[in-house]
Amino acid sequence: MSSIALNSLRFSIQFWLSVEIVQSWWEHMNFASFEEAKIFFDSNKKMINATPFVKWVWGKRQIIPQLKKFFPTEYNNYHEPFLGWWAVFFNLQKKQSFLSDVNAELVNTYKVIKENPKELIHFLESFSTLSFRTWYGIYKNVTPYEKEFYETIRAWDRQENWQEQYSEVQRAGRFIYLNRTCFNWLYRVNSKWQFNVPMWSYKNPDFIQKENILNVSKLLNRTKAIIKFQSFDKVLDNVKNWDLVYFDPPYDTLTETANFTSYNESGFGRDMQVKLRDVCVKLDKVWVKFMMSNHNTNFIREIYAWFRFEIVKARRNVNSKGSGRGEVEEVVVMNY
Ligand SMILES: C[S@@+](CC[C@H](N)C(=O)[O-])C[C@H]1O[C@@H](n2cnc3c(N)ncnc32)[C@H](O)[C@@H]1O
Repeated sequence: MSSIALNSLRFSIQFWLSVEIVQSWWEHMNFASFEEAKIFFDSNKKMINATPFVKWVWGKRQIIPQLKKFFPTEYNNYHEPFLGWWAVFFNLQKKQSFLSDVNAELVNTYKVIKENPKELIHFLESFSTLSFRTWYGIYKNVTPYEKEFYETIRAWDRQENWQEQYSEVQRAGRFIYLNRTCFNWLYRVNSKWQFNVPMWSYKNPDFIQKENILNVSKLLNRTKAIIKFQSFDKVLDNVKNWDLVYFDPPYDTLTETANFTSYNESGFGRDMQVKLRDVCVKLDKVWVKFMMSNHNTNFIREIYAWFRFEIVKARRNVNSKGSGRGEVEEVVVMNY
């Protein structure tokens, strides 16, 4: 074959390869038109000052600067299948995001903030004008800073089919209010999935956070967030090459005597950690980048032995009563 023919063959292969790459990138970003893409990228130049709307005592926030060093610079869509309270998603504002969790109330809250932030704010603002029937049968006004008010809202989930009796906006309002006013911002439910954390006397807890809710809503819309109630393994149904998945599962227990079936407080045992590892292996095989945080235990290092890992330090309650604070090591596992 002459060199001219060879060159033109090479050129056409290169041309078609680049068309393919552009096309697949376009599909990943889900843009219907150039106009839509332009708006997306223009609006992405500025960071939105949104912070997590729920507090959590073991928040990820403190280790975000350490985690940031390990985030890849190049990837397509972003997935966070253990959405939790302090989602890392807040710091990765430029990608389409797929967010999910198995906490139905948490997922509902994210959805309402995305779709209906003004109604949610209006509902939370109305708390100061509500009246409740007290346990001794008299109507009187109580403020949202009083135990009686708190316990009335908390008791919604003691009713049968309560999720059908209240609107999504009301449930989201309840979730945020209880989080902001309960002891240690804990989320704890009993075996019947009833929230059972007592109220705490914070000085002026801001359970409305008007500006922040509007900003979080903007961010969820900007990143075209798809928010789902589903288990982490379902992430496999939805990933494409070069996406990034960040896993922040309930951590492995720090008690090294624990055996394979021992569970941490959230019932996420070592069998689940292995299931999660298997999901990571599958992602690796289909060219999806993943990053996973966990406690730096022998068990976690063993099951992820053939992946890269880095150690970061986090402040934690280190004894079972939660009264002692100390530093624990976390491991960040990556396949890139
Ligand atoms: C709050 S984060 C854990 C944060 C941190 N890694 C830790 O353990 O200290 C855990 C989140 O995972 C969610 N979760 C638990 N099991 C899950 C599952 N099978 N699939 C998806 N999310 C799950 C919980 O609802 C919770 O929101």
